[in-house]
Amino acid sequence: MFKSDAAKGLLFFTVVLFLVACAERKKKVNYPKTDLAEAPLIPRPVKVIATNSAFGLDAKTAIYTSQTSNGFEEVGVFLAQKIKNHIDLDLYVNSNENETIERIIFINQTDTLGTDNPEAYQLYIKNDSILLNAKTAAGAFRGIQTLRQLIPETSNDTLAERPMWLIPSGKIVDEPIFEYRGAMLDVARHFFTVAEVKKFIDLLAYYKYNAFHMHLSDDQGWRIEIKSWPKLTEVGGQTEVGGGPGGFYTQEEFKELVGYAAERHIEVIPEIDMPGHTNAASFSYPILNGNGKKPSAYTGTHVGFSTFDTRKDTVYAFIDDVVREIAAMSPSPYFHIGGDESHVTKKNDYIHFVEKVEKIVKKHGKRMVGWNEIAQAKIDPSTVAQLWNEPHNALKAAKNGSKIILSPAAKTYLDMQYDSLSEYGLHWAAYIPVDSAYNWSPAAHVEGLPKESILGLEAPLWSETISNSAELEYLAFPRAIGYAELAWTPENQHDWESYKERLAQQTPYLDRMDVNYYPSKLIDWKEHKHTYKEIERD
Ligand code: ACM
Repeated sequence: MFKSDAAKGLLFFTVVLFLVACAERKKKVNYPKTDLAEAPLIPRPVKVIATNSAFGLDAKTAIYTSQTSNGFEEVGVFLAQKIKNHIDLDLYVNSNENETIERIIFINQTDTLGTDNPEAYQLYIKNDSILLNAKTAAGAFRGIQTLRQLIPETSNDTLAERPMWLIPSGKIVDEPIFEYRGAMLDVARHFFTVAEVKKFIDLLAYYKYNAFHMHLSDDQGWRIEIKSWPKLTEVGGQTEVGGGPGGFYTQEEFKELVGYAAERHIEVIPEIDMPGHTNAASFSYPILNGNGKKPSAYTGTHVGFSTFDTRKDTVYAFIDDVVREIAAMSPSPYFHIGGDESHVTKKNDYIHFVEKVEKIVKKHGKRMVGWNEIAQAKIDPSTVAQLWNEPHNALKAAKNGSKIILSPAAKTYLDMQYDSLSEYGLHWAAYIPVDSAYNWSPAAHVEGLPKESILGLEAPLWSETISNSAELEYLAFPRAIGYAELAWTPENQHDWESYKERLAQQTPYLDRMDVNYYPSKLIDWKEHKHTYKEIERD
C-alpha cells in the first residue's frame, strides 16, 4: 500500500516537474517589475527575497498538490475556492485537463525544509510557476494565506489577451515563533450564531491564527447542548446580558464549527467556566449551586457571585458528563475549565475543586487549561495556565513545568475600548489603542518567565457589550491582526512603522469581507470604505 502510494507520488511529482519545465519554456509575457519585499503581508514573514518580476495568475493557471500526503489536496481546493471568490477565476486542482495550462501553482509536501516547525513553509514565486513547500498540510495552509495576500485586487489587462493578476516574484521562508496563536470569543454573555462564529474563524485563518477558544458558559448563559443534562440549554441557554433571547449550539452545530475550523487548520478549545461563573448552570440544576442562595436567571454584568458546591459528589458526576460529551466532539488536546474569579468559593474548596476537575479532564484524554488562578492548586505540569491578571500565578505554574498562554488584559483583551470615544467595550484594564495593542513584547511581558514556558498568545473577546458580527468586528479588528503578527513574527522584526503601513493596506480584504473594523485615526487607511454587501466574498 505504502509502496504503491510512494510510486504514485513519485510519478505525480515527475509529471508536475515536467509541467513546470514546459511552463518555464513558454514564457510569452514580459512581466513588469513588482516588489515582493513591499507586499503588505501580515504577519510579516521571517524572510523575503524579492526577484523583481512577477507570476501571472490567469485562466491558464492550474493548481497541483501532493496527493499522497494527508490534507494537501484540500489545501489546493481551498486556495482555488478563495481565488474564485476573490477574482472570479476558476482554477483546476489536480486535473488531467492540462492542454491549455501555461502556469502552475504546486503545493508540495517535503520533509526537507530545515526546520521541525510543523507550520513552516517556503514559497518560490517565479514567472510561470509557484512552488509552495511545506512539511504538513497545516504549513501548506499557512503558506496559501501568504499567497492569497499577494493577489492584487485588479488585473493587469495590457499584458495578455485575458486578465492577469501579477504576483510579485521571489522567495519567502517562514514559520511562527509561537505554537499557540489564539483568539477567544465569549458566546455566553451574548450568543453568536454559527454563521457569525464561522465568519470570525475565516478572518482569523487569513492571518494565520491556529487556535479558537470558545467561552461556552458563564453566569448569563450556557451555550452547548449536553444530552445527559438537557436543562442546561433548555433553561440556561435562554438568557443573555440585557435580557435578549440567548441561544445555544446543538452538538451537531458544535461539531460543524469544529469541522469548519479544522478545515482552516484552527483548533477549537472549548471552555466550561467553573466553579465560579456558573449561575446559568445552577439556575438550570439548583443542586449544583454552592453560594447558599436560590439561583435565578442573571442578565447583568457583575462577576464573582456564583459557585458550584465543590463538596458535592453530584457536582463531579455532572462535570464528568459535561467533559465527556464535549471531549468526544473535540479533537483539540485541550479542555479549558475557566477557574477565574471564583470570589465566593472558599480557597480550600477552590483548590480541592481544581485538583478534582483536572483528574476528570485527564480521564477524558485532555490536557487541562485554566485561567491563572488555577495555579493556587497543585496542578500537573501538563496543565496549561492562561495569564490574564496575575503574573505571580503564571510564574508559579511555569516553575512547576506548566506552559503559559499569554493574555494580559491590559494588552490583549479585545473588549477593552480603543479610547474614551469607543462605541463598544469596557476599560477596566486599560484603553488599548491600535498602537499599544501592537507595541509590546509578549516574551518579555512577565518578568522572569522563561521563553520556553510560553505556549503562545491569545486575544480574548468578552461580549458584555457586543451581540452581533458588526459589534464583534469593531472590537476585534484591526487589533486581532496585530496580535497575529506578535504571535507569528520574530520579535526583532516587529516594527510599528512598517506594520501600520501594511495594516492600512488590508482594507480591500476587510471591505470585501464586510468587516466593520474600527477605523482608527492612527492608521492612514487605503480606500477606506464599508460596502455592506449581502453576498459573502473572501
Ligand atoms: C477573566 O477575564 N475573568 C479571565
